Amino acid sequence: FEVLPLPAEVVISHPAWSSNSPLKPDKSIYSARKPLAALTVPTQIATFSYDANHVLRYDDSSLRYFVEPQKGADLEMEFEQWPGPEEDPGRLDSLLFAYMREVDSGKDLEKPNVMTWRGMMTRIVTALYERRDSWEMNAMLVDGTVYLEDNKGHSYVNETVTGYTRGIKNIPTPQRKLMYTGYAFESYCTADGPNQTVSTQHEPDVNTNMQWCSIVQTSIGSSKLVLGGEVDCVRGAYKGKNGNYVELKTSGAIKNVKDERNFERKALKYWAQSYLLGIPQVVVGFRSSRSPYILETVQTFQTFHLPRLGLNAGWSATACLNWTNAALEYIRERLASEGRAVQEEAKMFRIMFRPGEGLQVLTLADEHALAIQNGDHVERVG
Ligand code: A3P
Ligand code: MG
Ligand code: MG
Repeated sequence: FEVLPLPAEVVISHPAWSSNSPLKPDKSIYSARKPLAALTVPTQIATFSYDANHVLRYDDSSLRYFVEPQKGADLEMEFEQWPGPEEDPGRLDSLLFAYMREVDSGKDLEKPNVMTWRGMMTRIVTALYERRDSWEMNAMLVDGTVYLEDNKGHSYVNETVTGYTRGIKNIPTPQRKLMYTGYAFESYCTADGPNQTVSTQHEPDVNTNMQWCSIVQTSIGSSKLVLGGEVDCVRGAYKGKNGNYVELKTSGAIKNVKDERNFERKALKYWAQSYLLGIPQVVVGFRSSRSPYILETVQTFQTFHLPRLGLNAGWSATACLNWTNAALEYIRERLASEGRAVQEEAKMFRIMFRPGEGLQVLTLADEHALAIQNGDHVERVG
């Protein structure tokens, strides 16, 4: 079957939330439901790389291997020389190109209900407990498959972690520095080949253009998914599948119960992000409490065990997956019924999420109507 990239003239506009019955992120409903019967383990179907200039390559040239970082490593060194990360347009193109190559080569792939980046799915999975950030996606239904993309034009009014997606250039220096520590940690934790055990690196080598990505086939409840996402590194040799993948994270030192709860809350994102691609391990570098840019300790968590941290912090992986199942069914159903109503597919939709209020699907025609009603300005970006 054919997969089509979203058209270039995707409408980028300010949110026009309407109060039409959204799907409510009601924690009590989804935690009371029984766990989904069959949890699938994601299967890798392809990999690809972005090189140092962020050019797509159908190979594993950007694959990195885990190496034990040195305690005391300086996470801010060379920060001044860092131009900041490239702003990623968030389009599905490279995922679709890499996927189509597999289809063209004759690989027998089951048609998915939903295809998107792992990052979009992480948003959906964690939305049940999201208290701060609203988000928007653009969606299309083509030949029975829903394609989801970030809506980069969303203004993220409530986002207090100043928009990674809003514009890299506008991030204040302290926050950019904290971002840099995350990339510096990745650099200290990785090597070009599998045979190194302890890092001998004394300064970070940060290039955020380079990425290695895995495309997996998986499912949540009744929805079959194809997801693409970055894998930070592998532990040991690369065996062509996700059994030894590692997600790298940095976090502030845990000094008291409040810090501990905060970390346990953040673990929801670590879990969701890693679970979706079938990454079995998360390696966390804790920064020092005396100096926030020094690596103090490193701890490995099994993704499978992370939901235990949720018990203290009030999140449940089971509830997240039940919610995700319902959210995907809701999105699929809304797009399908809208498609039937207009006798055509390949219409554009906007998916909106507001913390506490819920998830909504609007067709772009609806949205335009609402925007006009509200007097909102709608911009078109070519
Ligand atoms: P940390 O995760 O250690 O903070 P990822 O962990 O997803 O591989 O991302 C690597 C790093 O990119 C992060 O390191 C962080 O520095 C930066 N980053 C990713 N997503 C971000 C976001 N939404 N806001 C700010 N920084 C982000
Ligand atoms: Mg990463
Ligand atoms: Mg990481």
